[in-house]
Amino acid sequence: MATGEHIWNRELVLVTGKGGVGKTTIAAALARAAQAEGKRVLLAEVTSEVANTSPLLGFFGQPRPHGEAPIRLDDNVDGVRITPSAGHRLFLSAALHSGMLANAAMRSAALNRFLLAAPAFPEIGTLYMLVTLLRERWDHVVVDLPATGHALGLVSLPRTVLRILPSSGLIGGAIQEGLDALTHPARTGAVVVTLPEALPVQEGLELEEGLKKLNVPVRAMVLNRMPKHAFSETERAALDAHMRGRATEPLLGTREFRRLERALDARARFRAGVPAGVNRVEIPLCDTTTDSQEIMEHVGLALRQVHLGDPSPVEVMP
Ligand SMILES: Nc1ncnc2c1ncn2[C@@H]1O[C@H](COP(=O)(O)OP(=O)(O)OP(=O)(O)O)[C@@H](O)[C@H]1O
Ligand SMILES: [Mg+2]
Repeated sequence: MATGEHIWNRELVLVTGKGGVGKTTIAAALARAAQAEGKRVLLAEVTSEVANTSPLLGFFGQPRPHGEAPIRLDDNVDGVRITPSAGHRLFLSAALHSGMLANAAMRSAALNRFLLAAPAFPEIGTLYMLVTLLRERWDHVVVDLPATGHALGLVSLPRTVLRILPSSGLIGGAIQEGLDALTHPARTGAVVVTLPEALPVQEGLELEEGLKKLNVPVRAMVLNRMPKHAFSETERAALDAHMRGRATEPLLGTREFRRLERALDARARFRAGVPAGVNRVEIPLCDTTTDSQEIMEHVGLALRQVHLGDPSPVEVMP
């Protein structure tokens, strides 16, 4: 990997991780950063059928996009929601060579239930739509994936389907094309996001392993919301000793201090656990505001300072 590359420097950037770690914030921030470099970006939110507002597109003032086609969000930035049913519809119109017929077919409740219930059908729809978008005009497609299992399912389920489908057919061909893209190290980079707490770090590392097993190139692991620590090692040790002697006495700041200790422990686990070849990025907790737009902008500033492949670990502390 060339030194100095930006984290978003892939055609397909997959942002993944467990719930609430900051995937959407980071996906939006990556799009902003790529836009600032003059790139054309598609921000894509992979979502279920039911969601009617989009937190991701909300960062660009369009929380309720109409229709299924990409919409303009800003100069050089488009946004889209990738849903299984939109993917199925695209597939049907390709198969039937007629959008009208496809729409009529998709209105059939029975067919819809069948498409959603059959194992892997939602993933096939999602993958089909992704493939269609990747054939288009953007420099970067930044995908905000839902919780952990989805990222793995998006690759593993279509792969299973391919065992029973000829990869020469319309659907098999598209699945093969999607899997090729998802597993191509020069085209795709997954960014696994986690938090400085014991369990999330563990789960993040397991997700990284799972993706690697499926040949999805993991480009970076991000430890998001790392609290800044105001104490040196010596001061921490002194404070710790002081607090231990006063277990029953409520002391101002004790809880904060313990939380910081846990974050530092989790960070140590993160630093030790991220395998060689995967970049480590640490993004500070933004504690000056609760405004999600401002947080996204701070995170974007931090991400712009990241140059992957540096021999030293990347710690971004603006
Ligand atoms: N570096 C940060 N500092 C402070 N707050 C942050 C930071 N990153 C994200 N947040 C906040 O954490 C919350 C969760 O972030 P976000 O919605 O991006 O997570 P997510 O992984 O997309 O969640 P979900 O799994 O629910 O989609 C938001 O309120 C966001 O503003
Ligand atoms: Mg989200």
